Amino acid sequence: SPIQPEPFRIRMVEPVRVPNEEEREEALKKAHYNMFGLASKDIYIDLLTDSGTGAMSKYQWAALMCGDEAYAGADSFFALKEAVKDVLGFDYVIPTHQGRAAENVIFGTLVKKGDIVPFNMPFDTTRAHIFNNGATPVDCVIDEAFDPESDHPFKGNVDINKLEKVIIEHRDSIPLIMVTVTNNSGGGQPVSLKNLQEVSAVAKKYNIPFFIDAARMAENAYFIKMREKEYASWSLADILKAMMDTADGISVSCKKDPLVNIGGMICCRTEEMYHTLLPRVILFEGFATYGGLAGRDLEALAVGLREMTDEQYMAHRIAQVRYLGELLEEGGVPFVKPTGGHAIFIDAAAFFPHIPQEYFPADVLSIEVYREGAIRGIGLGALAFGTKDEKTGELKLPKLELYRLAINRRTYTNSHLEYVAKKIIDVYKRRDQVRYGLKVKYAPPVEGIHHFLAHLE
Ligand code: F0G
Repeated sequence: SPIQPEPFRIRMVEPVRVPNEEEREEALKKAHYNMFGLASKDIYIDLLTDSGTGAMSKYQWAALMCGDEAYAGADSFFALKEAVKDVLGFDYVIPTHQGRAAENVIFGTLVKKGDIVPFNMPFDTTRAHIFNNGATPVDCVIDEAFDPESDHPFKGNVDINKLEKVIIEHRDSIPLIMVTVTNNSGGGQPVSLKNLQEVSAVAKKYNIPFFIDAARMAENAYFIKMREKEYASWSLADILKAMMDTADGISVSCKKDPLVNIGGMICCRTEEMYHTLLPRVILFEGFATYGGLAGRDLEALAVGLREMTDEQYMAHRIAQVRYLGELLEEGGVPFVKPTGGHAIFIDAAAFFPHIPQEYFPADVLSIEVYREGAIRGIGLGALAFGTKDEKTGELKLPKLELYRLAINRRTYTNSHLEYVAKKIIDVYKRRDQVRYGLKVKYAPPVEGIHHFLAHLE
């Protein structure tokens, strides 16, 4: 497909440099071979995450200057409240400092020890918050999600039979159902509007609150427009609202689709839910009208929420990620199909079939890609999603072993991505010579967050 030209001009530049081979080797050593340990100055193209790494528009920068820093009831809060109502349709909004803070408030308030939380799939911190409240998330995603080659158009969908089975089995210990859009753990794959409506109906039937983890809600809406025939003629804004209509509430990392460098929020429909959640906001985040953010952050977010539904912007974004996928495809590199919304997820198990999963092939790939091109991606495999068996202490391996290249919003050009593709293909060509695995030398004693802090050897 043709490359979409950028629907923006760049009038401020951030110089970056390519460190030489020696510098890269030194940097890897200092980082204990963990991508989270690398310094930004040692990286040429940083695709660690699409979270908080995008470029704000001039309208967002201008809005920053209008921040009202009142502790309670700031104008900036009302600007956010109005944007949330207009774009998403919710009457109540609680700002938080980022997505996991919203998770802390939601799960810390609603979930108790022994509970079960059905998901399509949770992402890392979401999962960790549930574990750390003594509860268990259960994946109810469709089986196609675990087949990187399947080109199912909505691989983030919930398998409704699996969901109902979990609900019937654990009837009294399910405080909420959550669906992540797009499904980050499974390759940035979308959830159809029909599926959201079905989950919503099941939740109503059993009287369980339904929440959406909406970090990438606008990308998801774009996929619905492209792939779900009934909605082809709908505007992105209307599809997004229809998605939101299915949920009782949402938890949002605003560092993704809403286009800010920091921020999160919870939106909900009822005063009752709003007041149920507020005490924990006061304890951990700040007052109800700023939730750990400056007034100026709330202003930038209010603008970002409106910008994320711009159809030209989103068409370019999705096409840019797809373009990287097309280049990798030409080089024979195995990755999750169809191309995700915010990232390419390389199938590290297929890339390095000779490295057993317990030696973290996705993280070996992180190291090799950094070595090759000073590019930073991240492993999302056994290191991030493995769990310790409580009885045997053995590492239980996840079904997917992925290496993610997350595309920052409005930040890199298509030619940056051509460089990335070339370097990855160069690693692919020498994959047989990569003959090592990794061991964890140090990991923190908290379930679900090993990958952030691990020292590897
Ligand atoms: N939910 C999803 C689906 C996410 O992808 C993330 C973060 C969070 C919640 C937590 O939000 O970072 O603002 O606290 N994902 C990032 C990533 C960091 O790299 O995909 P946060």
